[in-house]
Amino acid sequence: MKVLSIVGARPQFVKCAPVSRELRKVHEEVLVHTGQHYDYGLSEVFFRDLGIPTPDYHLEIGSGSHGVQTGRMLAAIEEVIAKEGPDVALVYGDTNSTLAGALAAAKMHVPVAHVEAGLRSFDRRMPEEVNRVLTDHCSDILFCPTATAVANLAAEGITKGVHLTGDVMVDALRENLALAKERSTDPGLLPKGYYLATVHRASNTDDPAALGAIMEAFSRLDGPVVFPAHPRTRKKLAEYGIVPAANVRVVEPLPYFDMLAALAGARAVLTDSGGVQKEAYILEVPCVTLRENTEWVETIEDGWNVLVGADADRIVTEADAAGGARRRHSARFGDGHAAERIAAIITEYEP
Ligand code: UD1
Repeated sequence: MKVLSIVGARPQFVKCAPVSRELRKVHEEVLVHTGQHYDYGLSEVFFRDLGIPTPDYHLEIGSGSHGVQTGRMLAAIEEVIAKEGPDVALVYGDTNSTLAGALAAAKMHVPVAHVEAGLRSFDRRMPEEVNRVLTDHCSDILFCPTATAVANLAAEGITKGVHLTGDVMVDALRENLALAKERSTDPGLLPKGYYLATVHRASNTDDPAALGAIMEAFSRLDGPVVFPAHPRTRKKLAEYGIVPAANVRVVEPLPYFDMLAALAGARAVLTDSGGVQKEAYILEVPCVTLRENTEWVETIEDGWNVLVGADADRIVTEADAAGGARRRHSARFGDGHAAERIAAIITEYEP
């Protein structure tokens, strides 16, 4: 089969690495990079470290408003589909690249396969939630990372083509953790002696009060905070005139290996990322999530994660309490073999 895989943003590079490798054992893969992320540290370094093949098409769409960005991708992906005539289009996660890929393929009657289907935060103000719902509803093959995701789809009437595969981020993490420890740059901090923080969600970065409260909370934590800042967050801090406190080490976005190592060594992580919440769970690092909701409810149920929004007092209280023991661990994100299952299901797929 000819599988057209569409990626564009940092978390998608991590997810596609194990799947691409499995797919290429039996199928022809045509890899499309939309160019949603274009900074070296958000894109190229992931291809290098994770050994992802060079994209066959780089659409160079870049940044823009949601409509402009998604619209440009839609038109450009349509052209690639017309030229390549793939048997299946494979999309990942919940970004604008995901929606554009799914929509372009569905309109051209190419079966859509969605990795990370069925996740819901039930917050339609998040651009990612709109992308997820729409992508799932035009997908033919839905790869769910968790049983919760399968139930979410069933509640929306989607049962056909649904597969519980486990989470491909577990595959990526298991494969790379040892390498990460070997190859990562030493942050020069005592293990479990620092916090790790990431902030990039629009609801936090585009609201000066929210971003200000988060930075104030970081200044009140009892230890250094390693803060790899997404480019949009950096821009917004400068725009609002917010200067991080002396205990906050603002650094460039970390490559995958450095991020895994920094996470594994952190006392706790403070984040609004979805992927980092899961990685923290798998690495048994307490997580304080700077949002009011999450798609990864299992991390909360098992006691590894807590939702605090952008409330400075709640952030500080929960980060302080993060060392407390109130946790259990389960294999609810799968066994590290999700990519093999995904490739096998695509192989057996008959429209
Ligand atoms: C996107 C995804 C989000 C995902 C995140 C991972 C959507 C709606 N959001 O958010 O779900 O968690 O990627 O990082 O698709 N920018 C740069 N260089 C880059 C990329 C972006 O400077 O390489 C800046 C630009 O100012 C841009 C802004 O970041 O306008 C936002 O980038 P965008 O791709 O629109 O969304 P993300 O915030 O990265």
